[in-house]
Amino acid sequence: MKSMKMPKIAAEKIPAHVAIVMDGNGRWAKERGLPRTAGHEAGEAALFDVIEGAIQIGVKEISAYAFSTENWRRSPDEVKFLMGFNRDVIRRRRDEMHAMGVRVRWVGRPKRLWSSVINELEEAETLTAKNKVLTLNMCVNYGGRSEIVDAATALAKDVKRGKVSAEKVTEKIFAKYLDQPQMRDVDLFLRSSGELRTSNFLPWQSVYAEFVFMDVLWPDVDRTTLWKAIEEYSHRDRRFGKA
Ligand code: FPP
Repeated sequence: MKSMKMPKIAAEKIPAHVAIVMDGNGRWAKERGLPRTAGHEAGEAALFDVIEGAIQIGVKEISAYAFSTENWRRSPDEVKFLMGFNRDVIRRRRDEMHAMGVRVRWVGRPKRLWSSVINELEEAETLTAKNKVLTLNMCVNYGGRSEIVDAATALAKDVKRGKVSAEKVTEKIFAKYLDQPQMRDVDLFLRSSGELRTSNFLPWQSVYAEFVFMDVLWPDVDRTTLWKAIEEYSHRDRRFGKA
């Protein structure tokens, strides 16, 4: 880890919820003449260092984009690797997460997802359900538009059944139908690798997020990268539509 002291930032300037697009694993591997999968493997340490650094600085919730509904378009070998890798990481890191007081939650669609991955996610959710230090939303087979479409479908069914009146649907009611209704709005949205896109990650929750795009490939990220982004965030003027 690089040596950088944790910046001193007032508690109200620390983002409660940080969403992270962990991009650049493939390029990191390519630069080293390694297979893309080696980049994903190297990305594991980055994620867990960021989680520790988040706890130290007082972040309450992290959403990590581990596999998107669009990632099924990758080569069958890479998809297979990413499925197995997600399953193994969740299993291997479960006790460590629990010991740190991390509550793990799965956010995403069951459709197509390997049942062994779902089983590991559910085991981790059950084990860590009462933890309060930090919530880690593992976004596996997650897509922002599919989350909104699924919510609209479920809501339409409730309207048809007479449980909800169509005229009375508010943002608050709609949000109850999202994958994780308790999820906070995103305060800080991070993406590594220099790409300037959100790639279908948490659109509903990020409408007032501050964006920081980091010019570093995901495997080279650590807690100091997070702290630097939070420092930048702490200087932003968040107005939420007010003058
Ligand atoms: C993007 O890199 C990464 C993903 C497709 C998500 C997978 C993320 C990890 C494996 C990191 C750690 C995750 C866990 C579960 C510990 P890319 O392949 O798009 O890179 P590229 O843009 O350079 O090709």
